[in-house]
Amino acid sequence: MPRIYFGEKEIECKSGDNLRKTLLKNELSPHNSGTKLLNCMGLGSCGTCAIEIVKGEPHAKTKIEEWRLNFPPHTSKTKLRLACQIKVEGDLHICKHPGFWGEKRP
Ligand code: FES
Repeated sequence: MPRIYFGEKEIECKSGDNLRKTLLKNELSPHNSGTKLLNCMGLGSCGTCAIEIVKGEPHAKTKIEEWRLNFPPHTSKTKLRLACQIKVEGDLHICKHPGFWGEKRP
């Protein structure tokens, strides 16, 4: 069973579970402030669930993820991924950066 490490929290999920849904189910969120309510609900179009994978090897980006992460304020130059597009297949250490989209580096 893969484990997700997010801040001080550690949660377990089934292989193939969606990262965003798993975080929300465990009362964690890949969204900052108002985007907890204002988001595309996992369609991959708003970009507000962007997180950084600090450790772990997720699958390749989906097409919509690739598109959204190349659209401002995101750029292809960051290591951000969209939590709503990731199927958890192995242990992941993730972090959320500040900013409406989580796009700002501390
Ligand atoms: S929730 Fe909108 S892109 Fe992930």
